[in-house]
Amino acid sequence: MSLSDIERDIVLRDGRTLRLRPIRPGDAEALVEMGRRSTPEDLRLRFLSTVRPRLGSITTMLTQFDPVRHLAAAAYAPERPEDGFMGVVRLVISPTGDYGEYAIMVRSDCKGLGLGRALMGEMLGWARDRGLARVEGQVLPENAPMLRMVRACGGAILPSDGDYHTVRVEFDLRSTT
Ligand SMILES: CC(C)(COP(=O)(O)OP(=O)(O)OC[C@H]1O[C@@H](n2cnc3c(N)ncnc32)[C@H](O)[C@@H]1OP(=O)(O)O)[C@@H](O)C(=O)NCCC(=O)NCCS
Repeated sequence: MSLSDIERDIVLRDGRTLRLRPIRPGDAEALVEMGRRSTPEDLRLRFLSTVRPRLGSITTMLTQFDPVRHLAAAAYAPERPEDGFMGVVRLVISPTGDYGEYAIMVRSDCKGLGLGRALMGEMLGWARDRGLARVEGQVLPENAPMLRMVRACGGAILPSDGDYHTVRVEFDLRSTT
């Protein structure tokens, strides 16, 4: 799978079509803008602690990475690219290459349109294409929308290994289709 395979159209529940494209090193400001247009609570659910949307080490880490081990893509409206990123999904593959960790964020004003679900499906497709045995995620226990989505997509919710303020979610890709 190459980076161009990440590019595709996503159809939302209301019939609108968004474009998905790989995150690039120059996207830090676009991520900050997406954060500014999201609620502090949604940012906390994504980053598992309070964060402020600003340029810094986190945005560097989220935009400058090894594309072999770290896949990340942003969804935007192709007819209005100036409206910015509406959602971002990423999958960081373990050094052993057998599992990955995912994260998804949908901009607060774009929630409930089916974008989160679509980004989850894309990310699981990347993981299957890479031959990963499983995908994991760390989720705050109060994040009911994400936990519902995990269950709906065939994932399991497990206790965390030692980090008691999150739960671990897991997709076993050997047992799901
Ligand atoms: C969790 C999050 C990603 C969900 O994204 P979203 O775009 O709002 O989710 P969707 O619109 O795809 O799904 C919302 C609901 O619509 C349903 N839905 C989605 N697509 C659908 C479709 N085509 N037909 C019918 N229902 C659908 C989903 O099952 C879900 O149902 P629920 O209300 O019972 O949970 C989003 O709330 C978010 O970014 N939160 C903050 C950050 C965060 O929590 N990240 C997770 C850390 S890993």
